[in-house]
Amino acid sequence: MPLTLYAPAKINWFLEVTGKRPDGYHELVTVMQAISLFDRLDFEETSTPGITLSCNIDLGPPEKNLVVRAAEVLRRAHAPERGAKIHLEKHVPHGAGLGGGSSDAACAVVGLNRLWKLNLEETRLEELVAQVGSDCAFFVRGGIALCTGRGEIIEHKPPIPSIDLVILYPNVVLPTPDVYRELSTRLTYTPKDCYFFHRSRFLSALSVSKVVFNRLEEAALRVSPGLREVWGKTENESGVTCRFVSGSGSAIAFVTTDRSAALALARLFEQRGYGRAFAVTTVTVGASEQLDAGHRSVGSPDQARKRPG
Ligand code: C5P
Repeated sequence: MPLTLYAPAKINWFLEVTGKRPDGYHELVTVMQAISLFDRLDFEETSTPGITLSCNIDLGPPEKNLVVRAAEVLRRAHAPERGAKIHLEKHVPHGAGLGGGSSDAACAVVGLNRLWKLNLEETRLEELVAQVGSDCAFFVRGGIALCTGRGEIIEHKPPIPSIDLVILYPNVVLPTPDVYRELSTRLTYTPKDCYFFHRSRFLSALSVSKVVFNRLEEAALRVSPGLREVWGKTENESGVTCRFVSGSGSAIAFVTTDRSAALALARLFEQRGYGRAFAVTTVTVGASEQLDAGHRSVGSPDQARKRPG
């Protein structure tokens, strides 16, 4: 039976870099949050062993693609004789700090586990997919989590009340290593403590601004003139309680007072030509078969997605 899954993007409510590691990576404390902007993956079993990937956009060499790499890690470890065709429909912008590629990778292992009826536990899927990228493991279960280490040590947390946001992608691809490199020349600060979960059950669009922080924000703004320009133009938008760069950028997240403010702001950003804008909400899932209407992103017409089935 073919299978369709949706892979959510993420934002980081909090991201502190606490040091540089001997392996070249950075030690993180970050709060990852899945949001209602999804890629779609369709899986079909094949009789020939191996993985083939197709996509609605050009992805470059398949062997470098995170979906193929994650699928092959799983296949080699647990199902060397099995085969699958995967079709990826990309909606999450690339080089945006939204974790799109990482979420697709997690979705691939979740999907193949179901397609091939391997019955592997989520912790095993997290372990496998962490081999292809630092923040991949989070997306197996998604929702909200405190992540440490390179980002791969995950402590899932109870959902927070749903919060509306606009994600603005300023059409700038920002390579994550460039942003970390820029930051690592200035690792002289005292790391901030994370207070995000102290009263997280009562968080709202207003109170979340008190606990939001991203250490990579200044570095991303320094590295990218395109991001800097849009950041400068979106300082005082109505209906916004706070804004921050998502992860290593280039997407900017705007927390809005409610859904209608998010819809109006996304429309306005697109009219002004600032890039692609998506009105989204926080979601409590990771790679998942469900995509209910309340969890749909609204953005440019080409982002409208069909419901499964
Ligand atoms: O692990 P992943 O391939 O997603 O990381 C991409 C890049 O981001 C790394 O090559 C590294 O430059 C940077 N990074 C880092 N510390 C982390 C995560 C990522 O320096 N914890």
